[in-house]
Amino acid sequence: MKLLVSGGAGFIGSNFVRQRVNDHRDEVVVLDKLTYAGRPENLQDLGDAVTLVQGAIEDPAKVAQAIGDGVDAIVNFAAETHVDRSISGPEAFVETNVRGSLVLLEAAREHGVGRYVQISTDEVYGSIEEGSFTEESPLVTSSPYSASKAGADLLVQSYLHTYGLETVICRGSNNYGPYQYPEKLIPLMVLNALHGDKLPVYGDGLNVRNWLFVEDFGRGISHVLAHGTPGEVYNVGGPDECTNIEVVREILAQTGNDESLIEYVTDRPGHDRRYSLGSEKVRALGWEAQVRFAEGLRRTVAWYRDNAWWWEPIRSGEYREYYERHYGRSLG
Ligand code: NAD
Ligand code: TYD
Repeated sequence: MKLLVSGGAGFIGSNFVRQRVNDHRDEVVVLDKLTYAGRPENLQDLGDAVTLVQGAIEDPAKVAQAIGDGVDAIVNFAAETHVDRSISGPEAFVETNVRGSLVLLEAAREHGVGRYVQISTDEVYGSIEEGSFTEESPLVTSSPYSASKAGADLLVQSYLHTYGLETVICRGSNNYGPYQYPEKLIPLMVLNALHGDKLPVYGDGLNVRNWLFVEDFGRGISHVLAHGTPGEVYNVGGPDECTNIEVVREILAQTGNDESLIEYVTDRPGHDRRYSLGSEKVRALGWEAQVRFAEGLRRTVAWYRDNAWWWEPIRSGEYREYYERHYGRSLG
């Protein structure tokens, strides 16, 4: 299969491209703006099977260049993805997540692309105290990030109803694993713990997330790409839920630290209390999560410990400035 994977140089996109090249022998074109979160290093082990086009999804000429003579499908991961950054600067989220998705959809229609998969998030459903969201749950967004993702999902569905484009949407729960930019909870806490820096826990630390190992999400997306019904949404949720403080304590234990590194800090505005995703529909396509949280976290901590080449340049660049501005303390 020939795939256009937009946002394929980021965390989930690069793990997905790795699976498609190694397990499916696909030819992949990656279109990526290479923002702070996108890095060619994330794809450097994949050689000639991947062509990287640097460009924004909201640029029609770059999208046309990436489609070239045609692709069998577009899988769109490209997005601004960090809730905290969406609170301090929401414009980029609308530009990339909403307008960028529109430009991609339009290009898919013009070039007769057979299938369009939009990668979305459980955050479009908002927070749930008990039980789990299904694909029928209403979209009740809380942050500019989740609002922009929900806006894109609505556009994607409109392209099926209005133009007959074969679209499917995959909504994942919180992912973790190798190559995740350390602004997100797990890699941030792992790297801080490895450096003896404080671990900044928002609020009371009792917010709950539904953790999904990134390779399991990739396998779910491949199931939807191959077997999903056009026009449908598929939730892909992780097998385990835990509070943030449980995650942090486990990371401290795995890195040989004690709890004196925990620092409770001011809560995120509009902080969603709990995410939980029911995944019956994608299970009916034959998908099942293979990696439980305890094992996935061990693999993730080991990866960060063994791959300083990957995170050292990040910790000395834009990330350091972001961190110091956001948390008001310096990184060790
Ligand atoms: P990420 O921030 O690691 O990667 C995003 C990628 O998109 C980067 O490579 C970046 O350079 C690229 N990008 C950003 N703006 C672009 C633009 N205008 N044009 C082209 N490329 C652009 O994010 P991620 O965690 O890998 O998330 C990927 C997708 O999965 C997103 O759509 C996100 O909403 C969704 N998602 C993420 C999670 C999660 O827990 N991380 C969970 C569910 C869904
Ligand atoms: P995050 O990784 O930003 O993902 P999301 O907000 O999209 O779920 O955050 C996961 C949880 O961790 C969330 O409840 C916020 C919390 N958190 C902290 O407590 N401290 C931090 O420094 C960060 C980045 C997140």
